[in-house]
Amino acid sequence: MYDLAIIGGGPGGYVAAERAGAAGLKVVLFERKSLGGVCLNEGCIPTKTLLYSAKVYNYAKTGDHYGVYVSDPSFKYDEIVARKNKVVKKLVGGVKAAMKGNKVEVVAENATIQGRDNEGVKIEAGGNVYAAKNLLICTGSEAAVPPFPGLKEAGDVIVTNREILDLTERPEALVVIGGGVIGMEFAAFFSTLGTKVTVVEMLPKILGPLDDEISEMLQKQYEKRGVEFCLRCKVTGIEGNTVVYEDPEGKVCRVSGDKILVSVGRRANLQGFGLENIGVELALNPAGRPYGIKVDEKMKTNVPGVYAAGDVTGFSMLAHTASREGEVAVNNILGKEDRMRYNAIPGVVYTNPEVAGVGLTESEAKAKGIDFKVVKLPMAYAGRFVAENERGEGICKIIVGAKYHEVLGVHMLGNPCSEIISAACVAIETEMTLEQLQEVVFPHPTVSEIIKETSFTIK
Ligand code: NAI
Repeated sequence: MYDLAIIGGGPGGYVAAERAGAAGLKVVLFERKSLGGVCLNEGCIPTKTLLYSAKVYNYAKTGDHYGVYVSDPSFKYDEIVARKNKVVKKLVGGVKAAMKGNKVEVVAENATIQGRDNEGVKIEAGGNVYAAKNLLICTGSEAAVPPFPGLKEAGDVIVTNREILDLTERPEALVVIGGGVIGMEFAAFFSTLGTKVTVVEMLPKILGPLDDEISEMLQKQYEKRGVEFCLRCKVTGIEGNTVVYEDPEGKVCRVSGDKILVSVGRRANLQGFGLENIGVELALNPAGRPYGIKVDEKMKTNVPGVYAAGDVTGFSMLAHTASREGEVAVNNILGKEDRMRYNAIPGVVYTNPEVAGVGLTESEAKAKGIDFKVVKLPMAYAGRFVAENERGEGICKIIVGAKYHEVLGVHMLGNPCSEIISAACVAIETEMTLEQLQEVVFPHPTVSEIIKETSFTIK
């Protein structure tokens, strides 16, 4: 009998397994593909590795901005992809070692929940049955691919975040359907390498949930580099290597590419592992369709001893959310008081420049009817930013409550805001006010000082 069975070895599942194993629980983890899940194998890590190659290439091309001359910079696409594979392999090895180090039994099979009795949950995998007192479901999500007319016939012209990682050649032209996080990161990668990129997005802005001003600034920077944006444009079909869409006036337009990336969101994996056999309740969207497993703030489902964490819950589909949710589940299994909070979850888009935000945006604060103030400064107020970002533009915005100046949200554009945003996460998590933030000593010279500088502009 195991204390905890975990289905899915992504950042929800493997982090939970590590914590539970370290706390002395007897843990079995089922992963049918590769440890690390989407994040490590076909998401966060491979894309950041590719994007770093593009960044290095861009440094070589723009060295003259810094007085450094590189003659005729070039790249080998297959070597960029090979390095990505090497990085993924190394990190998957790291997860394997962490499982071993914490005495987690890893079963490399497809797991199916068989049912539940007084003793716990029974799971079948590879012909064996495993019994566990608790179950944590971390089966993740997959790319949502709408049934656009002509999509099937287009064959391998159509790619999702998974197939695009292993192209053997760089496409000359790429059409991206959906200007969200995945769409923008691939638009950034391929446009830097010289691909003609067109982004077709049905909303009036790219990166929908992000701060409006920041998403507009980022769009302008990519427009200058030749990326074309078709906003308020809804895709209606595919004709071979051509995307058909309706422009804001209702006119039918077409744009072609060697590849078409479909990045219009992700869907929780709710099927194929026997969820129905234990009667777990699903969360429904306003149209009554299930979008994830319903959990409470302790990550508990309606079935005693059964928890869920990560993308399978269907709302905050981010690796770091998954890991924290997994930890909350494990802490509750261990009898510790812990609950999930979503007000300080950072979001980062690894374009160049990067975008990072945590907490409420201005529009969210408005929609919630909160009495708030906004303070902001260009990134150039941080000396280090100027030193390292020739011709770079950026911004730091802080949203605070109007009366007490408690930090509600921080949003930034400019490198390396993906690293700096953690300071803002701590400020929100610990309910700091701007005045308290002003008393913190930030290292000089760092770009992070922009947060402190911005905090002093409150009136
Ligand atoms: P997304 O939800 O970020 O963006 C999808 C976009 O597609 C939206 O802007 C939507 O308006 C648009 N769209 C939908 N249907 C369309 C249509 N028919 N025509 C034109 N546009 C259409 O989804 P995405 O980019 O696929 O990412 C999926 C998930 O993965 C997200 O939850 C994201 O947070 C996560 N992710 C996070 C990353 C990070 O943290 N850096 C990196 C990559 C993914």
